Parts: sequence; C-alpha cells; structure tokens
Amino acid sequence: MSNIDYKKLVSFGIKAPSGHNSQPWKFQIINNAIQIYPDRSRSLPAVDANDRELFISLGCATENVVLAAKAQGLRSQIEVLPDAATNTSSITIHFTEGLPADTLWLALIDKRQSNRSVYSGEPLTEAELKGLRSVELEAGVRATIVTDTLQKDRLIELVIAGNTVQMQDAAFKQELLSWIRFNRREAQATGDGLAYNTMGNPAIPFRAIGKLIACSVLTQDRQNLHNNKLLHDVSALVVFSVQDNNPCGWINLGRSFERMALVATRLGVAHSHFNQPFEVSGLQDKLKKLEFVRGNYPCLMIRLGHAKSMPSSFRRRIEDVLL
Ligand SMILES: Cc1cc2nc3c(=O)[nH]c(=O)nc-3n(C[C@H](O)[C@H](O)[C@H](O)COP(=O)(O)O)c2cc1C
Repeated sequence: MSNIDYKKLVSFGIKAPSGHNSQPWKFQIINNAIQIYPDRSRSLPAVDANDRELFISLGCATENVVLAAKAQGLRSQIEVLPDAATNTSSITIHFTEGLPADTLWLALIDKRQSNRSVYSGEPLTEAELKGLRSVELEAGVRATIVTDTLQKDRLIELVIAGNTVQMQDAAFKQELLSWIRFNRREAQATGDGLAYNTMGNPAIPFRAIGKLIACSVLTQDRQNLHNNKLLHDVSALVVFSVQDNNPCGWINLGRSFERMALVATRLGVAHSHFNQPFEVSGLQDKLKKLEFVRGNYPCLMIRLGHAKSMPSSFRRRIEDVLL
C-alpha cells in the first residue's frame, strides 16, 4: 500500500480540537498504520488531572485521520493499546484499501472551529436537530441533546458553579494564562494555545501587559457574567457520556464528539465547550443525577447555535508532532 499519503492523514489529524489547544499528541507512521501517542509534556494537570480531556482530544485526532483516510479510499481499524508500564494508552489506526474515495470530510475538518462568540439565540430547526441526532456514536458513548429551557437551566447552573470554583483556583488560572496567546506573533511562534482573536479579544503586543489584563478579567463575577451572556437563550446543549470512564471510553467519546462537530459544521451550526461541570470535583456527580442526562459518566458538554464564524486557531507544524 505504498501509494497512501500518510503525512496528509497526519496533517488532518492535527487539525482536531484539544483542551486549551494544547495538541497533546505525537504521531508515528509505521507499516500500513498510524500510531497516536499522548504527549505528556502537553498535559493540563490543573484542569485535567486524570487526562480525560487529553484522551478525548486524541479521540478527535483519531476521527480526523479516519475521515481523511476515506478521501484516499481507505477503511480504518482502530486499536487502543494500554501500556501498564507508562500508565498510558496509545492508538493504532490500521488501513486497508478498497473503499470508494469520499472527500466530503476534508473541507469540513478545515472549516470546523470552536466558536466562542455570542450566538443569535434562534432555535435549531427540526432538520438541524434531526441531522445532529443521526450522528453515529461509538460504542458506549451517549449524547443527550437538550433543548428544554428548564433542563438547560439546570446544566447552566452547574457551569456557573464550576466556573466559580475555577476562578478561585490559582493553579487553574496560572495554567490557563500559560496557554493564552496575546498577539499574532505569540500564536504563530508557538502554533498552539488560545489565540486572542479566537476568543474575540484585541491583540496585546506585550505578554506581561496581556497577563495583567487577563488577571483582571479572570474573576468569578466577570466570567460568570460572560458565561451567562453566552448561555442566555442558548439553542441547545449537548452532554456526552461514556459507559467506561477510562482512556478507551474517552477516546470513543472524542471520536463521537468530533463527528458531531463536523456534522454541525456541515449544517451551519456553531459549537463551543462548557466543560466546567466535569473539571471541578463533585459537579460531575450532580450532573450524573439529572434524570434527563443519558449515560453513566457525563464527560463533555457543548452549546450549539447559529453564529458568524471566528478566526481559526493555529496548529504546530507536522514535523513537530511526528516521531
Ligand atoms: C476535550 C476538550 C475540552 C475543551 N474544553 C474547552 C473549554 O472548556 N472551553 C473552551 O472554550 N474550549 C474548550 N475546548 C476547545 C479548545 O479550546 C479548542 O479545540 C482549541 O482551542 C482549538 O480550537 P478549534 O477547536 O477552533 O480548532 C475543548 C476542546 C476539547 C477537545
């Protein structure tokens, strides 16, 4: 299978979303397969102590590779290998030829973005909801699409409760600040992190000044006001849950979430994350008890709605992620 363009597949893998745009992955091209490893130097110990979001991000990258492989007429088979010695897991994507080439997903992978702007507030149409509900989920993954106002309010309360704790947590704020890129120069140089313009902020030429301004904004009151503004009139929230609360389950969740994000992109529906209830201890249990949330372990939440697109985030170069 010498005519497979493996580097092209990796180039689509790295367009995947990841917590704080940390891109916590390494790729290796081996006989007829691509392996994806966690890059522990890019983990987020304060917000993601047990690496759940890290493995969800690896699942998103896996799904991008699988969908990009379809454009080369390739069928993919995924193997998740736990490595007890390093207490981690790696993913191997094996390819076989023989599918008709399907290039639909390439443009969607390019276009998908986490859109943190204020959405229009208009409800999702029946056709949009039907499209989103028809997304095929991996084994053990469930997605609850919530449009009922009272149910949304109960989820929003948990976002606010989580944010209140995070804004009093110096380690959380320190970690977040270290991933903020305050101007184009910083964002381009690192190729990672949360770029100012993806969050709707103006560029700040000097990092020290950027940090001072960010510290004044990263307060319980300011952030809760902002979250309430973004979630007021939200069209829908989606809670993703797993049956197995482990790397395998999280990778499956990442694959399913990425698929839904790409289908949403195709439908012209924007999305962004509100994961505070899973990042602060005690809140996941409260969310789990909500009778309308399906699945054992809720792990990820997004809002859906209509919005104008935002600037795209940066990525590291392919040479930086290839082993
Ligand atoms: C597991 C996971 C958790 C995330 N959590 C948040 C979050 O809590 N808040 C947020 O604004 N974005 C969150 N994001 C979105 C990332 O910040 C985003 O994917 C990254 O900055 C790259 O931007 P892009 O998705 O537009 O390509 C998360 C993404 C993933 C995969």
